[in-house]
Amino acid sequence: MDAEAERLDRVAARLAAARRVTVLTGAGVSAASGVPTFRGPEGLWRRYRPEELANADAFAANPRLVWEWYDWRRQVVARCSPNAAHRVLAGWARRFPSYAVITQNVDGLHERAGLDDVIRLHGSLWEVLCWDGCAASPPRWRDETVPFPDLPPRCPHCGGMIRPGVVWFGEALPAREVVRADAAADCDVFITAGTSAIVYPAAGYLHLSRARGAFTVEVNPADTPATEHVEVAIRLPADVALAELEARLQGTRTTAP
Ligand code: OAD
Repeated sequence: MDAEAERLDRVAARLAAARRVTVLTGAGVSAASGVPTFRGPEGLWRRYRPEELANADAFAANPRLVWEWYDWRRQVVARCSPNAAHRVLAGWARRFPSYAVITQNVDGLHERAGLDDVIRLHGSLWEVLCWDGCAASPPRWRDETVPFPDLPPRCPHCGGMIRPGVVWFGEALPAREVVRADAAADCDVFITAGTSAIVYPAAGYLHLSRARGAFTVEVNPADTPATEHVEVAIRLPADVALAELEARLQGTRTTAP
């Protein structure tokens, strides 16, 4: 049997016996949908310097430039659809008694595939908040306008600027999501999929789950700093690997006599 198939079998057997499963996703999970990743040959960070765009000082200095970038990303994602990886991960919510997806992605594709209650560590492209934090506005709200007619877009409550509801460099992760992610790291099987595993605290959940006894798996066509720490590394694109795992799980499903 080919080594990759053997690895998939091994992971599927662990999943078939698992009650508590947690998956950490990164940009690679959305790659098959056409959403650019951050790093790598076509990565967003190759063409833009994050320090120019994804931080509060940059926004204060040039809100229009920062908004042009986010408005462009919203336009790209609006044209994309969830792929097999998102669909399999959404279906697993019905398969495992305790299940969580922790994502670094801000594209909303897990939700569009039908997964509720995603743990979103880095916020959402589809949420915005008042830059001045005006008293009349909620802390954040959904706005799916694509493209915005004028940049920077304006707060409907005070007329000031709004900002994207994503976590920028130098900002704290949402406290509620950190608490949920920490609890989700308590699991039988932990899969890290489509992430370069270099941005913390997200990358730390793999180590936490492992320290708590989880069987750990990486799904990524390339090596990452996580590779040497997992029990099994599956070297396939996420949509292919997760569809293969799902097919194996369906094969192990027992039918009543
Ligand atoms: P990266 O762009 O850093 O890494 C994407 C990973 O996906 C790489 O390891 C690729 O090898 C892998 N990959 C590419 N195609 C794939 C496929 N089809 N299937 C599976 N894997 C594939 O993206 P993230 O790890 O998500 O943070 O980046 C983490 C954070 O860095 C982002 O959330 C963002 C960025 O700064 C913030 O904006 C706060």
